[in-house]
Amino acid sequence: MSTTDMTRADVAAFIEREFSRPQSNKVLHTHPSPMYWRANDGKTRERWEKRAHLAKQRRFKDNLYLGIPFCIPTDPAHCGFCLFPTQDYRGKSQISDYLDYLEREADLYGDMLSGDTLASLYVGGGTPNLLRDGEYARLMTIVRKLYGDVAPGIEKTLEGIPQLFTRDKVDAIRSAGFTRVSMGVQQLSDRLIRYSGRKQTRQQVMDALAYFNEAQLACNVDLIYGWPEQTVDDMLFDLDELARSGVRHITHYQLNIAGRSDFSKTQRAQLPSLEETIEMYRESVRFLSARGFRQATVYDWERIAPDGDGRFEFAGAERYEYETHLRRLLSMDGSDLVTQHMIGIGYAAISMPPSSWSPDDGLNWLQMNHRSLEAYHAAIDAGQFPVDRQFVQALPDMKLAWLFQEMQTMNIDLGAYEMAFGCDAIGEFEPIWEELGARGWIEIENDTIRFVDIGAFHIPMLQALMSQTRLRQLRDGVDLGGGTRRVVPIHAEI
Ligand SMILES: C[S@@+](CC[C@H](N)C(=O)[O-])C[C@H]1O[C@@H](n2cnc3c(N)ncnc32)[C@H](O)[C@@H]1O
Ligand code: SF4
Repeated sequence: MSTTDMTRADVAAFIEREFSRPQSNKVLHTHPSPMYWRANDGKTRERWEKRAHLAKQRRFKDNLYLGIPFCIPTDPAHCGFCLFPTQDYRGKSQISDYLDYLEREADLYGDMLSGDTLASLYVGGGTPNLLRDGEYARLMTIVRKLYGDVAPGIEKTLEGIPQLFTRDKVDAIRSAGFTRVSMGVQQLSDRLIRYSGRKQTRQQVMDALAYFNEAQLACNVDLIYGWPEQTVDDMLFDLDELARSGVRHITHYQLNIAGRSDFSKTQRAQLPSLEETIEMYRESVRFLSARGFRQATVYDWERIAPDGDGRFEFAGAERYEYETHLRRLLSMDGSDLVTQHMIGIGYAAISMPPSSWSPDDGLNWLQMNHRSLEAYHAAIDAGQFPVDRQFVQALPDMKLAWLFQEMQTMNIDLGAYEMAFGCDAIGEFEPIWEELGARGWIEIENDTIRFVDIGAFHIPMLQALMSQTRLRQLRDGVDLGGGTRRVVPIHAEI
């Protein structure tokens, strides 16, 4: 079955229709979106057990995600823009109780992950730096439950907000064994950050960077462009300040606007226009490239040349393993096939363990834990995996998931696609490539499709375009094997 049944005219019509709508940058770059996943079918344990059996013959590398869902309440709620599932922070005991549940969820896995190799750890949220000093070491206890002793060289990242990264806390994070932090800054300007209701200042951001540097912690900074009232100059001012500080990794997201956020409901008139947002994207590419950064994905920028005013060194900061591994799902180590897996533990955590390269095994599944804290607790109290929903990928889903990961890097490796699926990605999506080529959004050379200029900016829209045919099949209940039955999309924006 073809992966798209669109004609070139359909492709052009789709682009004309979607071009000026705010594009939805899915945080989860896989296929299909969680809207299409199905209610827990009770087979979670069976899948993990079969996978553990396969792990004895295969090379599974795990990138472990631990979710800490709590956030300091803001006015407007959810920082005005955030679409992640989170819970209001109500006090210290809430966190220590939650860590008990996290540990008990890890216990449910028994030794099912012990045949895998832990490749990286990411503690995200929510706001993991709400934890108290002694609690960071507890996170490592949970990791050891799953994988035994953790090799010291492994990248271990913890996410947080600037005002909670005090010097003592940064020391506690470092002492617990973390090697990297990811700080959500969004805006450096004290005027613009106010839209989010966050009590955060530019000074707190710069202080936190100094503490990371003292503690020799690598650091990523998240920024958002397309923010209410933000101009190109505002954006460049922040990028310049951070580039001068010596930061080695900047994640520069386009603001994702959707249904229930305050920005979507009350700030639309303040948002930059599409033309201004595209200009911001182009200017950021020009600026960061000129300042020694390499664009690793549509929004990830890695420093490759020294710059800055020499204040901060951020020792060892040139590794970004969690993100890099998950973009390369499949690789060869000599004659061994190595697959990268995302294993998610905690409230709303997602797992993506591509355990068999054969769609018939039903072991290419995606799963998401409960997004209600009560349901998460209740499942664990009942000794069950706290999985809310899952999706078993059929072959077209595996192909699209692969292509989506590649597209994040703005390059599709046609040879690797052929090696993985035994077919030609050009032929399978020919009308799409023809139309994008004619618009100057892609170039095809040396076995690679490269997304260029605003072709890269539009990648979220182009991912939606590529999955059109398959999503219609899923809505219509076309059976392709791999467990595909008619599904009713749930309303979840992840
Ligand atoms: C899990 S979130 C938040 C981490 C941390 N709690 C914070 O607020 O900074 C990780 C990152 O996703 C990005 N993000 C969240 N909502 C977004 C949206 N609506 N549009 C674009 N980026 C978003 C932000 O840059 C944020 O730092
Ligand atoms: S942006 Fe960060 S702090 Fe704000 S609600 Fe989202 S996860 Fe929580």
